[in-house]
Amino acid sequence: MNRFDRRIAVAPMMDWTDRHCRYFLRGFSPLILLYTEMIAAAAITRGDAQRLLAHDPEEHPLALQLGGSDPRELALAARIGQEAGYDEINLNCGCPSERVASGAFGACLMLEPARVADCVAAMRAAVSVPVTVKMRIGVVSGAGAGWREALAGFEEADEQALHDFVGRIRLAGCAAAIVHARQAVLGGLSPKDNRQIPPLRYDVVRRLKQAFADLPVVVNGGLRDAAAVLDALRWCDGVMLGREAYHRPWLLTELHRALAPADAVSPERTLLLERMARYAARRMLEGEPLQAITRHMLGLYAGQPGAKEFRRLLSEGSRAPGAGPALIRRAAGVR
Ligand SMILES: Cc1cc2nc3c(=O)[nH]c(=O)nc-3n(C[C@H](O)[C@H](O)[C@H](O)COP(=O)(O)O)c2cc1C
Repeated sequence: MNRFDRRIAVAPMMDWTDRHCRYFLRGFSPLILLYTEMIAAAAITRGDAQRLLAHDPEEHPLALQLGGSDPRELALAARIGQEAGYDEINLNCGCPSERVASGAFGACLMLEPARVADCVAAMRAAVSVPVTVKMRIGVVSGAGAGWREALAGFEEADEQALHDFVGRIRLAGCAAAIVHARQAVLGGLSPKDNRQIPPLRYDVVRRLKQAFADLPVVVNGGLRDAAAVLDALRWCDGVMLGREAYHRPWLLTELHRALAPADAVSPERTLLLERMARYAARRMLEGEPLQAITRHMLGLYAGQPGAKEFRRLLSEGSRAPGAGPALIRRAAGVR
């Protein structure tokens, strides 16, 4: 089984963590584990797997997140993912989107632990890389008016359901539980609200870790700075960062320095831009528009003087006809 550092991961984020974004984020630390956006298993098995799974060798360690609920299809997609070079296959049991729920995948699967265990077992049998599951701490129904109340409490039965879910997937061969420390409201709340309104319950994840001492547990949700991440790492095996890593990727470098102080890696922002200019030149030769790459880079100077000018130059400039990698080099000097 592959072994890699699980302490810091960047979350799967649809429309955000595409290959360009991941290449950009890799520049901040060689340590972090990166995840793809969720890709439906059926899109891989019946669609254009080569395009969907394409990535740069520099993106490793790299996990593929799958959406689905059919063990055979997931197993096949996992095998294709492993053959494409992915270091981990992850099953999405945390996405509350209604579109996803209607296709029987995402957070609604938390109500079907036996089925998820079958999926994990089938994927595990199909690949030699680790199979992991990303989940919520639980789900509540958004039908009717009672969901706010349901969110406010996390009863013993809810905790038992979570432990039962994790116990089953672990028996099926799940190598790590990645837990977004919120319940999901199924139906009635937008995915965005579902990342904001349900309260964060790190205490629930902490007790889960205590109950499953030998299962790597990664906590996710609402972690915004290095202090909070390092604090969480005192009781869990890893932290997964979503929005903050996207909007303020320098945090990844801060964490790298804190966790691997002997490592000489200390990127300069201007060097990161040069790296991206070279990357953009390669991708543009394949027909990729510059903007598809630069749109992920706007947070490079977040919190620094000149951040606004940098953002404006990059986002307006990359839409201009004829814009190319030179814009990225120019952006390095705008501040
Ligand atoms: C734009 C966006 C897209 C997301 N897409 C996915 C996804 O494809 N799969 C998934 O498991 N979670 C997805 N999430 C949820 C994140 O992985 C993460 O669990 C959530 O944002 C909480 O972490 P954070 O508070 O650090 O952002 C998405 C989140 C955002 C903001």
